[in-house]
Amino acid sequence: MADKAATLTYDNKSIDLPVLAGSVGPDVIDIRKLYGQTGAFTYDPGYKSTASCESALTYIDGDEGVLLHRGYPIGQLAEHSSFMEVSYLLLNGELPSKDELDDFTYTISRHTMLHEQLATFYRGFRRDAHPMAIMCGVVGALSAFYHDSTDISDPEQRKIASHRLIAKMPTIAAMAFKYSVGQPFLYPDNSLSYTGNFLRMTFGVPAEPYEVVPAVERAMDRIFILHADHEQNASTSTVRLAGSSGANPFACIAAGIACLWGPAHGGANEAALNMLREIGTPDKIPHYIERAKDKNDPFRLMGFGHRVYKNYDPRATVMQKTVREVFDALKVNDPLFETALRLEELALKDDYFIEKKLFPNVDFYSGVILSAIGFPTTMFTALFALARTVGWVAQWNEMISDPGQVIGRPRQLYTGPTERDYVPVDKR
Ligand code: ACO
Repeated sequence: MADKAATLTYDNKSIDLPVLAGSVGPDVIDIRKLYGQTGAFTYDPGYKSTASCESALTYIDGDEGVLLHRGYPIGQLAEHSSFMEVSYLLLNGELPSKDELDDFTYTISRHTMLHEQLATFYRGFRRDAHPMAIMCGVVGALSAFYHDSTDISDPEQRKIASHRLIAKMPTIAAMAFKYSVGQPFLYPDNSLSYTGNFLRMTFGVPAEPYEVVPAVERAMDRIFILHADHEQNASTSTVRLAGSSGANPFACIAAGIACLWGPAHGGANEAALNMLREIGTPDKIPHYIERAKDKNDPFRLMGFGHRVYKNYDPRATVMQKTVREVFDALKVNDPLFETALRLEELALKDDYFIEKKLFPNVDFYSGVILSAIGFPTTMFTALFALARTVGWVAQWNEMISDPGQVIGRPRQLYTGPTERDYVPVDKR
């Protein structure tokens, strides 16, 4: 707590509001007692100036393009770490020792299978169901299968639920894919890495052995790292809000998946690739840039702009590098990558994008990579959900462990009719 205070004058009365200081980043004016002292609420519908919670997990400096998990820069983690290690870090606060990492990886691998009855859920969906629709349904349904890990007041049960979610998400996502293409589900193979196992369950078939391509496994693992957590974004805030009522973890994560699906959030990677396909060749780019700038045209450059980053999204830098690695490993050369590079170049020179500080975000290049690996666009957001699950459970655990935690309950600026008497239907 800082020893600073902010003074607010309202209705001819001045009150002092405490100012809290984090370890880094902007100070926070504590308005918890504002209503009691003044009778007024604050108004901030998109949370543009509101810290909704205290957290020690992830720090973003949007102006500088910095993203830290438990203090470690995302670039270093993407380069040197693994998704399992980053998961441990997010959940536990420190990097694991070799034994701790082995133990954690083993524990996760022991939870990769789904209850056999869950497989029958898939058959209730149409074959053309969006994988995110399936993910919402199946993850929500986990709460009906794992009753021994839904008592949120028990830290051990919370840990088991977290491990189950992280471990089962690749199986659930891969099964959603298999169902859509009409191929049999593959059981997990725990001799493979977390990411290798996911690739095999997605692209392997029972008729022949599946060989994991190390460069693709590494790229996929890195994509998971880049999506692991991102502070109080819309889906994470949804998980926290759902969890604040005491809802069980599986239901909370299903709520996060629903929120992530939207095109302004996780759905942007799908929308970005669709946009690149629509643009097609670099000669069409100026036309689409003009459309993005036209206020009367709903078209936006998907994969561009971010609520927090007003600089290059550090995850986009790693993504761009990873595209080349995947192309080299798979010996592919998708011309859409050239279109993406040119689009970025032209947009970053354009006054509209410069003035509004619109830069490529993590989704701009991810679609090109995922498509080269073989994923259909409809799977992109499901992959995001798979990776973000670790962030969601870490944030959810942090919230539930906080002794000061209360139910999230925003107030409103009411603009509807004031009280009036009911009129019977024959008198209206
Ligand atoms: N293309 C064209 N103009 C844009 C874009 C874009 N991609 N993004 C923002 N702008 C413009 C807006 O029209 C607005 O202009 P105005 O001030 O003249 O009205 C201004 O820039 C600010 O944009 P807002 O939408 O008010 O900013 P906000 O912080 O609310 O939105 C968002 C951020 C939703 C990400 C937005 O930039 C966007 O829609 N981008 C495209 C979708 C996308 O890539 N989403 C992925 C986000 S990253 C993630 O979820 C992993």
